[in-house]
Amino acid sequence: MIAEVTQPLVRNLMTLKKATFAIAAASLMFVSFSQADEVSEGVQKRIAPVGELCMSGEPCAAAPAAPVASGPRSGKEIYDSKCTTCHAIGVSGAPKFGEAGDWGPRVAKGLDTLFDHAWNGFNAMPPKGLCLDCSEDEIKAGIEYMVDNSK
Ligand code: HEC
Repeated sequence: MIAEVTQPLVRNLMTLKKATFAIAAASLMFVSFSQADEVSEGVQKRIAPVGELCMSGEPCAAAPAAPVASGPRSGKEIYDSKCTTCHAIGVSGAPKFGEAGDWGPRVAKGLDTLFDHAWNGFNAMPPKGLCLDCSEDEIKAGIEYMVDNSK
């Protein structure tokens, strides 16, 4: 008799407990979702590319990024990137890098003549050594680098 009365009651209680738990869980999830929103908003702001936050007209938009390469290239840079093609192994009779015997008679002509020949071309030596964007100073630096290292 007692069992007949209490069993449905216990069942009801358990259902109630489940429902309470479900509501609690749901509200917990809601709280954590709205927190997640705030967090992701913060993260998005932090990982946003600088350019997107810098509107045109603002001072930050005025300064362009400095070019990576600035100033004249060194003689070594010119030689390594342009002149080495022929002067490393002596293509078509080019005076070889590091060969004092090759460079001695050339240097005897004077650096001005060497520059003139390098700038304007000389037999199989092409004008500017094919370095079309080389400045006079850069060609001179390239010659000096080869001469200095071929003594
Ligand atoms: C395509 C091959 C080639 C390249 C690239 C080249 N040279 Fe030459 N260079 C030569 C040859 C060949 C000679 C020898 C010419 C001769 O004496 O008849 C020469 C000679 C020279 C001479 C001696 C000129 C003289 O009056 O005796 C200088 C200085 C020189 N090159 C500088 C340079 C510089 C600096 C570069 C790189 C910016 C360069 N060369 C790149 C082929 C080249």
